Parts: sequence; structure tokens; C-alpha cells
Amino acid sequence: MKFFIDTANLAQIKEAYELGILDGVTTNPTLMAKEGIKGTEAIAAHYKAICEMVDGPVSAEVLGTTYADMVEEGKKLAQIHENIVVKIPMTKDGIKAIKWFTDNGIRTNCTLVFSAGQAILAAKAGATYVSPFIGRIDDSNWDGVQLIEQIVSIYNAQGFMTEVLAASIRTPMHIVRCAEAGADVCTCPLSSILGLLKHPLTDLGLQQFIADAKSLQS
Ligand code: G3P
Repeated sequence: MKFFIDTANLAQIKEAYELGILDGVTTNPTLMAKEGIKGTEAIAAHYKAICEMVDGPVSAEVLGTTYADMVEEGKKLAQIHENIVVKIPMTKDGIKAIKWFTDNGIRTNCTLVFSAGQAILAAKAGATYVSPFIGRIDDSNWDGVQLIEQIVSIYNAQGFMTEVLAASIRTPMHIVRCAEAGADVCTCPLSSILGLLKHPLTDLGLQQFIADAKSLQS
């Protein structure tokens, strides 16, 4: 399973990259707004900076909602850097735009996916990635990971090439369960990635080893 980081924060991207386990980055308009990025030029410069930090796919989301706007905007985003993947919302116009990008050799990430039916449409349109939002499904009292399992099973049965990118990850356990469910990619906040490191028995064991190592030296 590939690890992407779900942020537009350059310091967090750097920290995850330096761990040596980062395969890519996803962003969205909310994450860009959090960083105070405003205006077309600043947005393009920020995506370029991210692409220069990480050697892997960087999802950049269109802001328009019509087919024409998404295609126009996505073409410009794709020109920023070869690693840009155009992120398109799951709407009727979005599906048409994904098909256009597929036909023109531009990679896409279909976002805001909450059902298996939507995931089938994204795959039919040739999306490179489909992004089910598992944390938001959990928020509405359903099991987000069950949707990952269902989509993985459908894609395997049908031979769809679209990669299942589990998004809206909130906890380290989400990452573990998505790995178990067969997700191709997990896009995670830095806190969830770092959370995977933690186990109290590791801390206790290390304290003991450090103490015993000192006694070996004296
Ligand atoms: O990748 C989608 C993600 O950013 C949404 O996460 O926590 O806002 O549901 P969240």
C-alpha cells in the first residue's frame, strides 16, 4: 500500500518525506485555504513547490464545477509539473471531465466518493485514483472501511485499473484497516502516519534496553 500525505503544509510534507516512506501528496481546497494560499499564481507556485519536494503523484483539485471549467483548469494544473494528478469531484460534469482527461493522457483522482456506485462510474471514466472519504462516512454512523472493502472487491472482480485511494483518514487504525481491506493508497494526515509508530511496550522495552546498555558500558 502506498502512503500519501493529505496536506498542503510544506513543513509536514517535508517531515513525512524525510521518514522515507512517502509516495505522494493529496490536497484539496480546504487544505490549501488552511495554508493561506490565494490566487491562481500563488496556487500554482505552491503546487510546484510540493512537486519539487516529493517524487510522486501530487493531487491538485479543480475549483470550477462545470465540465468546461474543470477541463480548462485541469489542463493548466497538469502543466505545472509532470507529477500533478488532476483532482475532480464526483459529479456528472466531473465524470465527463475525468473521461476527457483519460482520453488525453492526464491522470485524475475522483474525489468526494461515498458509495460503490460512484466508484464504479469513476473507474468506467478511467480515473487513475478513486477517493472514498472514510472518516466522513464514519462521522455519519456508517463504517467507512467497509466501503473500501466493497470497492476493492468490485474492482478486482471487474478488472478495473483505477487505484483505491482511502481518504479522510483520521486515525492510525484507519490506516491499518485500509491496508487489511486491500486499499492501493492511504492518504493520511501526518498525525496518523506518526501514530503508527506508537506502542507503550516499545517505549518500555526501549527504556529497559537503554538502561541495560549503560550497565554494559560501565
Ligand atoms: O482527502 C480528503 C480529506 O482531506 C478529507 O478529510 O478529515 O476533512 O474528512 P476530512
